[in-house]
Amino acid sequence: MDHVIEVSDVSKTFKIHHERHQSVKDRVLHPRSGRTELFQALDHISFTVDAGETVGILGHNGSGKSTLLKCVCGVLQPTSGVIRQRGSLAALLELGAGFQVELSGRDNVYLYGTMLGFSRKYIDRIFDDIVAFSEIEHFIDTQVKFYSSGMYVRLAFAVAVNVDPDVLVVDEVLAVGDERFQAKCIDRIKGFQEDGKAILLVTHSAEQVRTLASRAIVLESGKMIAHGDVGDSLKIFRDHLLGTAPATGSTATSAGEVHVDSVTSPSGTFDVRAGAGFHFDVHVSATRAVSGLFVLELHTRDGVLVSRSDPQANPVDLRAGVTSIGVDLPHLPLLDGIFDVNVGIYDPRGSNILAWAEKVATLQVTYGGRESGLVDLAPSVHQN
Ligand SMILES: Nc1ncnc2c1ncn2[C@@H]1O[C@H](COP(=O)(O)OP(=O)(O)O)[C@@H](O)[C@H]1O
Ligand SMILES: [Mg+2]
Repeated sequence: MDHVIEVSDVSKTFKIHHERHQSVKDRVLHPRSGRTELFQALDHISFTVDAGETVGILGHNGSGKSTLLKCVCGVLQPTSGVIRQRGSLAALLELGAGFQVELSGRDNVYLYGTMLGFSRKYIDRIFDDIVAFSEIEHFIDTQVKFYSSGMYVRLAFAVAVNVDPDVLVVDEVLAVGDERFQAKCIDRIKGFQEDGKAILLVTHSAEQVRTLASRAIVLESGKMIAHGDVGDSLKIFRDHLLGTAPATGSTATSAGEVHVDSVTSPSGTFDVRAGAGFHFDVHVSATRAVSGLFVLELHTRDGVLVSRSDPQANPVDLRAGVTSIGVDLPHLPLLDGIFDVNVGIYDPRGSNILAWAEKVATLQVTYGGRESGLVDLAPSVHQN
C-alpha cells in the first residue's frame, strides 16, 4: 500500500432512537418505547491521501465531516467499507474529544500522548516544547474543566503537532483562539507539509482550504459531491450554499467569463465607526455583457457569517469590460471588530455562481459605547 490513508467505500449508519412518549414520567415507566431509525451519516466514501498531501474537507453542518474524521482515526468503526492508515496519527477532533476534564493539563498531555502511541519517556522529552507552544504555562497544573475552549484547543494542538505524527487530522479547531495563535498553528501545519506529512483538514474557512490544501472534498448529506482541485471544490461548495446543485454543463454563462477584480473605498481605508455609513466600490470584469445578482457577505475572523445579502434584491447588468458596482451600507449595526468581506455575482436565477471573491476587503469597525458583542441591538427598554 502506497497511500498513507486509504478510505474505500466507507459508509456509516447511526441508530437513532425516537421516543414515543413525551413526558419524563412516561419515559421512566416505558424506557424502551419508541422506535429506532437508521440514519446514514456517510454514504460510500472513497479517497486516498498520500504523504505530503493536505486534503481539505468542506461541507455544511451535519454533512458528515466529523464522522468521517472519527472513522479515519478509529474512534468510530465504519458500518461498511475499509479504512487503512499507515504510520502514527495525531488527531484534533471536535472539542470534548480526547481530554479528561478532571485531570490537569499536565496529566492530559501524558494521557493524550500515550493514547497517540508515544512512550512516557518520549513525552518527557517534548513536554516543555508542548507547554511552550500552548502558551498556557500558568495553567498546566489546573484541571482542564476550568479551561476556556481556547486554552483547551491550544493544549490539544500543542500536543498533536509536537509529537511529530506521520498523519495529522484536524477538525475545525483552527477557528478557535485568537488570530495570532491561529497564525502560529497554520505556520506549524505548513512545516508539516514541508516535512511531507499527510494532513486531513476540516474547516469552515474557504481561505484556509485555499491556502493549505492541495485537494478538497465536499460532503453533502454524507455523500461526496466533489473531490479534486481546491478551486473547483470551493465553487461546488458555494453553489450548494444556495441550496441548488450546480447544473453541470448546462449553464448559459460559464464562470470564467466574470471576475471580481478589486474592491476599493473612496477614502482608501476600510475603517468605519460603528453606526456610521460606509461606501465601497466593487470592480467586476466580464468578457461579454451579462446580467447577474450581486451578493455581499460579512464574516468574523472566526469564520462566523454575520450577514449574506439577498441576491434577488441586487440585480446588476455587467457590460463587456469592467463594471463598477457601488455598495452603500447606510449605518453599520456592528460593534468593534474586524470583518472580512466576500462578494460574488450569481446568475439571474440565483442558482449558479458566476464569480466569487473571498476576503476582498477587511472592515475595521470601532465602537466607543458600552454594549458588547457582535451587533448593536439598540434596545429600547420601558418600565410598564
Ligand atoms: N453518535 C451519533 N448518533 C447519531 N447520529 C449522529 C451521531 N454522530 C453524528 N450523527 C449525525 O450524523 C450527521 C453528521 O454529523 P457530523 O459528522 O458531526 O457532521 P459535521 O461534522 O459535518 O457537522 C449529523 O446529522 C449528526 O446528527
Ligand atoms: Mg463536525
